[in-house]
Amino acid sequence: MNRLVRLKLSSAEYRYDIRISDERLLNSLIIELASLRYSNLFVVTNTVVWKLYGPLITASFKKAGIAYHVVLLPDGEVHKNLKTIQKIYDALLLYHADRRSILIGIGGGVVGDVTGFAASTYMRGIRYIQVPTTLLAQVDAAIGGKTGVDYALVKNIAGTFYQPLFVYSNIHFLETLPHRIYRAGIAEVIKYGIIRDKSLFSYVQKHRAGVLAQSPQSMLKILYESSRIKAEFVEKDEKETSGIRMLLNFGHTFGHAIESSTQYRILHGEAVGIGMIIAAKISYLLDLCKKDVPKKIEQVIRDMELPVSINNLDIQHLSKSINYDKKSEADKIALILLKDIGMPVVYKMDKKMLKKILMEVKI
Ligand SMILES: NC(=O)c1ccc[n+]([C@@H]2O[C@H](COP(=O)([O-])OP(=O)(O)OC[C@H]3O[C@@H](n4cnc5c(N)ncnc54)[C@H](O)[C@@H]3O)[C@@H](O)[C@H]2O)c1
Repeated sequence: MNRLVRLKLSSAEYRYDIRISDERLLNSLIIELASLRYSNLFVVTNTVVWKLYGPLITASFKKAGIAYHVVLLPDGEVHKNLKTIQKIYDALLLYHADRRSILIGIGGGVVGDVTGFAASTYMRGIRYIQVPTTLLAQVDAAIGGKTGVDYALVKNIAGTFYQPLFVYSNIHFLETLPHRIYRAGIAEVIKYGIIRDKSLFSYVQKHRAGVLAQSPQSMLKILYESSRIKAEFVEKDEKETSGIRMLLNFGHTFGHAIESSTQYRILHGEAVGIGMIIAAKISYLLDLCKKDVPKKIEQVIRDMELPVSINNLDIQHLSKSINYDKKSEADKIALILLKDIGMPVVYKMDKKMLKKILMEVKI
């Protein structure tokens, strides 16, 4: 079964599809590729993904008579840098890529972000396709055209907004994902429920077992709803100018600070989960929402076997890190808080007040 989310960008009158599939082979990806005209095709992936899916990709492409080059990158966030981009440019030059060439990024968010960045800059922009293989990349990173690399220890500091031709998400890629990485991706799904769709939140609450066990039905449901919601935000605020896309950062201000305060020992999604609990507790302390809101959020995060707190978290360090957040200006910070599940609000808070309130929140 294939489900389609169509993303329309009014600025460029550009639209593209996010195809969510549970097919065993890559049939619809191959059909899409066969319908395109290009001079050269490049599969950009990493060693981990290629080891798992190289045989399937090779066999499917061969059967369809599709020729391609493989650009094999090292695995991990530490390689999300300009050196890796150079490696991609080198391969493109070696095989005489021209403006009619197409890149296909097959992998997690790191592969997707670097493929998009290379595509957006090589010859001032060539086409690319996103084939995300982690839950986080399927529900978030591959959708919306944000590309980038890390530089001088700053995450995503160099990047572009550059939309793909289409996104192909196949639920079967997730079967080989380490379960901890999979669960970390669920935090982003829960986030979409909290900021936009109470029924998605309830779905995760009610279908705990199916979601954790990656039942095809649950996977199709959460991928479809999350992709739809992400697409909706991107359509309204493609380049993060109106502030609407900022709501997607719910839980992230605290999450990023937790990641850096714990020297990145915990995964991004795990930190976001705790960050969402903190944001909900602050919302309650400020009387913005009822007491059951943080309770429900904490429970669903616990149900997804994600951490809900951290031992010995240094609040001083945490509030210092928050001050470096992108949404921070002079003595105030814009927080995404909640009136209810499905009802986020942007709340500008004095930094001193935030530090005080963080002391009250039990993390
Ligand atoms: N562009 C955006 O809008 C956006 C949004 C959110 C996150 N991101 C970026 O995404 C990155 C994080 O993405 P991620 O969580 O996917 O991390 P990742 O790309 O590092 O993937 C996590 C690990 O899983 C492996 N992997 C990938 N697919 C697999 C599979 N099917 N089976 C087994 N292992 C597999 C990877 O090789 C890696 O070791 C960060 O760099 C972040 O900045 C970008």
